[in-house]
Amino acid sequence: MRNIIERYDPKKIAIGTLGSHSALNIFKGAKEEGFRTVCVCKENDAIVYRKFGLVDEMILVRDFSELMEERIQEKLRQLNVILIPHGSFTAFLSTDDLISRLRVPMFGNRELLRLEADRKKQADWLRKAGLKLPCTLKSPEDIDRLIIAKLPGARGGRGYFLAASPESFHKKFNDMVRRGLLKEEDKEKIHLQEYLLGVNVYPSYFSSIIDNEVEILGIDRRYESAVDAIGRISASEQLEIGANPTYTIVGNIPVVVRESLLPEMIRMGERVHETAKKLAPPGIIGPFCLETVITDDLQIHTFEISARIVAGTNVGIGTSPYAYLKYGENMYMGRRIALEIRKAIELGRLSGVLT
Ligand SMILES: Nc1ncnc2c1ncn2[C@@H]1O[C@H](COP(=O)(O)OP(=O)(O)OP(=O)(O)O)[C@@H](O)[C@H]1O
Ligand SMILES: [Mg+2]
Repeated sequence: MRNIIERYDPKKIAIGTLGSHSALNIFKGAKEEGFRTVCVCKENDAIVYRKFGLVDEMILVRDFSELMEERIQEKLRQLNVILIPHGSFTAFLSTDDLISRLRVPMFGNRELLRLEADRKKQADWLRKAGLKLPCTLKSPEDIDRLIIAKLPGARGGRGYFLAASPESFHKKFNDMVRRGLLKEEDKEKIHLQEYLLGVNVYPSYFSSIIDNEVEILGIDRRYESAVDAIGRISASEQLEIGANPTYTIVGNIPVVVRESLLPEMIRMGERVHETAKKLAPPGIIGPFCLETVITDDLQIHTFEISARIVAGTNVGIGTSPYAYLKYGENMYMGRRIALEIRKAIELGRLSGVLT
């Protein structure tokens, strides 16, 4: 990777990503910091990136997996592209491909994408950082409280269900199989996690290697179908139709938390980065997000981490209250990424923020 970066012209660096997830956020930020932009995009989605006029070079593909083809990677290198990974990279490409076979410089620490992809490694990382995690049950027969049953890998909450006893687990699992949402063999792979009754709060941080600081840039919550709709019908109708919460993400909503939660939230971000430094030096490069639930005793429980930009930062395009506090107007995750790359170029430290 170092060889590739050395061949790049620092005056002609372009910022590239896959056309989905948080690409508009990334491209707008790149433009505002004076970079050219390159979008690897599916024909059907190109309308979005043309509409906002944020893309200088469009590379059309039939499928995002084409990013693994030498022809596309060579084109990206010719354009001096630095790739910004987002949720569609981890959703549509394998971790091995991302880490070993994508030979285009990437902003961020690829090694952490491997930790992110493995539920156990991820939990070890968060636990080492001193965060509170929901407990895990070994077998459906151990269910003695409300649990959320999860399948491995990022599936956007698809196929998840709740159960409060072994009987209700087996009944609901069989229902899901009958409805074609799960397969019989999924039973072995299901992760049983304590369900935290509280509100979702997703703080997004930026770990700056250049400034040696972890910033908190924004907070959001998710807007999910059907779980955010179930409360709109009465309990009697919920019972009548046997309503089950599902978690299909539709969008994100900005959140400001009570200020007394901020000290802990800031420390959590710092500790997660400190721990990452030991697990995979130099730790987190750039954006990351903790997925938390805050219970009514004001405890912050973390059930997941994303070691990259999350779509929840899109609520901050333009500005978010927390970014405003530090930078004034017009700072948001996409721009913060581009700013870090620009600073790194100016200081001759570009290879320090790429892997
Ligand atoms: N332990 C938990 N307690 C309460 N709610 C939870 C818990 N774990 C997950 N959820 C809720 O379930 C939804 C989806 O969970 P999760 O984030 O684990 O899915 P995912 O497959 O990782 O999706 P994504 O990759 O989009 O984050 C979220 O809205 C979250 O709030
Ligand atoms: Mg998640």
